[in-house]
Amino acid sequence: MKESSSPLPCSVAFETNTGLMPQATAHYQKRLSDLRGLFLDPAALELRIRAEGDPVCYENFAFNQNQAEGDIFFGTTIIYPGKVGSEYHLTRGHYHRKRDHAETYQALSGHRLVLFEREDGTTCTAELAPGKVTYVAPFWAHRSVNTSDVPLVFLWTCPVEAGHDYEGLGGRGMRQVVVERNGVPNVEDRPRS
Ligand SMILES: [Fe+2]
Repeated sequence: MKESSSPLPCSVAFETNTGLMPQATAHYQKRLSDLRGLFLDPAALELRIRAEGDPVCYENFAFNQNQAEGDIFFGTTIIYPGKVGSEYHLTRGHYHRKRDHAETYQALSGHRLVLFEREDGTTCTAELAPGKVTYVAPFWAHRSVNTSDVPLVFLWTCPVEAGHDYEGLGGRGMRQVVVERNGVPNVEDRPRS
């Protein structure tokens, strides 16, 4: 990137409680129907799609002024509360196309967790909570899960060249799932089908 054509510094406003970012340069929503194949209970998913008019599961606002290597982009993700069967609302989950690129998450509202896994099958979780920065280390696929009854809003920051690889998870989502057991969230291995 040439210095003469580089973006100008600026401050970008967002709403802490809702994640709304009026100056976002990109925005998308994922409805439950967009997440077919990811939840443990497809019948429960279809039931909710029909009964509730295909509600939004999560949405994303992003801000970026250019795609040059070395720049970053950042934004907010909002995961609305809810469950499909016993499984809590989640994001699709992805590896970075450039596996050695990292990211950070910072929860603004709500308090939940991130599922991680590596291509060698290793898994772990990390807390996503106000007052903490979650480090999404290189080589780890990541999915956020809202186990609360309020929207989970978090800020993310990532190198523009990291890219998203949704296919690396084989279309099945993550190896672990977060389900309600006896009224509390529990992280379990995905049942083998
Ligand atoms: Fe990412």
